[in-house]
Amino acid sequence: MNSVGIDAVAVHAGKLRLDLAETFAPAMDEDPGKYTKGLGLHASSFPDVEEDIVTMGANAAHKLMERKGLTPEDIGRIDVATESAFDNAKPVSTYIAGCLEEVFEDDFHHANKGERKFACISGTQSLDDAYNWIRAGRHRGRAALVIATDTALYARGDAGEATQGAGAVAMLIAEDPDLVEMSLEQGFGSADETDFLKPNQQFPSVDGKRSVQVYLARMREALADYESVAGQTHPDQFEYIPFHTPFPGMVRKAALFGYRHMIRDTDIEETVATDIGRQPRIEEFDDESQYHDAVREYMDALKETDAYGEWYDRAIEPTLDIARHVGNWYTGSVHVARASALRRAREEDIDMAGKQLLVGSYGSGAQAEIHAETVQENWTDEIDALDIDEQLTERRDITFEEYEEIHDVHNHDKEADIDAFTTPSEEFVRDGPGPMDERTYRYVE
Ligand code: HMG
Repeated sequence: MNSVGIDAVAVHAGKLRLDLAETFAPAMDEDPGKYTKGLGLHASSFPDVEEDIVTMGANAAHKLMERKGLTPEDIGRIDVATESAFDNAKPVSTYIAGCLEEVFEDDFHHANKGERKFACISGTQSLDDAYNWIRAGRHRGRAALVIATDTALYARGDAGEATQGAGAVAMLIAEDPDLVEMSLEQGFGSADETDFLKPNQQFPSVDGKRSVQVYLARMREALADYESVAGQTHPDQFEYIPFHTPFPGMVRKAALFGYRHMIRDTDIEETVATDIGRQPRIEEFDDESQYHDAVREYMDALKETDAYGEWYDRAIEPTLDIARHVGNWYTGSVHVARASALRRAREEDIDMAGKQLLVGSYGSGAQAEIHAETVQENWTDEIDALDIDEQLTERRDITFEEYEEIHDVHNHDKEADIDAFTTPSEEFVRDGPGPMDERTYRYVE
């Protein structure tokens, strides 16, 4: 079997921009530093009035198919990952296929369509489904379209409001991919958790502080599970480590835990030991709380070492370039982190062909998954084709009052009738409701 992985990627960012330091923080009577330094976020992307998860997903998929010269007959499955669905029966993939059929001559009648739910990790689970389908040989030479699309909105006044975002990532999964090959090995950390959930409601119920702890615990389990099949990891093994990024500050915490784990019993642990000692080992302590105190002290010291700083700046920081300006895209977030890192590699003229990524996905509820990816020869063509910079620059800045209006527009329980802030061009937009209360869409030339 040939290699299998991501052949191409396209993104669509919500067309509105809320500046967190200049606009949101003052309105909330908060220090802008909480956003820019603490959470690591400068802005959130929001969907305009005529945008939703279908238009964003369809626009990303359309761009990807056009660029790769694909027709619907080349696609054997369309999987949408989302936690913002508005229909409990009809999957978002059918709405997106309907949109695409407006602009392509052929149809997707022979493509298997579905929708995946497991909070943010369902984007990566959909990649897995596509990977497995191809490796099983059931794809008849066709590729899979995976679309991760979300409007990550929180209830007004919820602490999570600081981390909102909206956008879609479309990925083509195929044999002999141009971008990255996915590893056969993967590790999981999964447990029944209630830190973030939406029991038949649009906006999440969140225990924010606990969600941070659950993320770290599940990610640690996933790394150990990954190592049980792939062997011990080492920081120098991976050029970049894209994580699920609800906000960059979360990744800052996860990266430090990951680094401590990866350097244990390595040359790096010995080198930094001259300054900060070796890592505490549980067997050296009579009392578990003393051990945890010692670990905390060690991590505080580790964070300040040159070795950690250099590794973080090389392997982690580049994955956060886009997230800082768009917020959390839930299912698309880890895939934005991968694109962000590869875009930085391109800017810095780093030859990535053959190099490895370690990808850490996460979804509340809760599950983490870790796998490796090998960057392919043609990766530069794929990254050069990304138009994310143009999209981010073209976003329309909104005032706090406009933010309040647009939040109401996308709130399923409110009726808000305002004009769109932007003028659509060559894209899908949302139209009025259909006779069965279904959402309808049209393509604007
Ligand atoms: P909060 O209470 O608003 O913020 O909640 P805070 O007071 O904890 O401040 C945040 C950070 O900023 C802290 O840093 C502060 O010290 C710092 P930390 O101690 O964590 O390192 N700070 C400042 N720094 C510099 N200058 C200042 C300043 N002020 C404060 N002036 C929280 C933050 C994340 C809890 C909230 O935003 C939230 O509930 N978010 C939603 C949940 C979330 O994103 N959880 C992340 C893990 S779960 C996950 O990733 C899954 C998810 O994507 C959903 C899914 O899977 O579907 C969410």
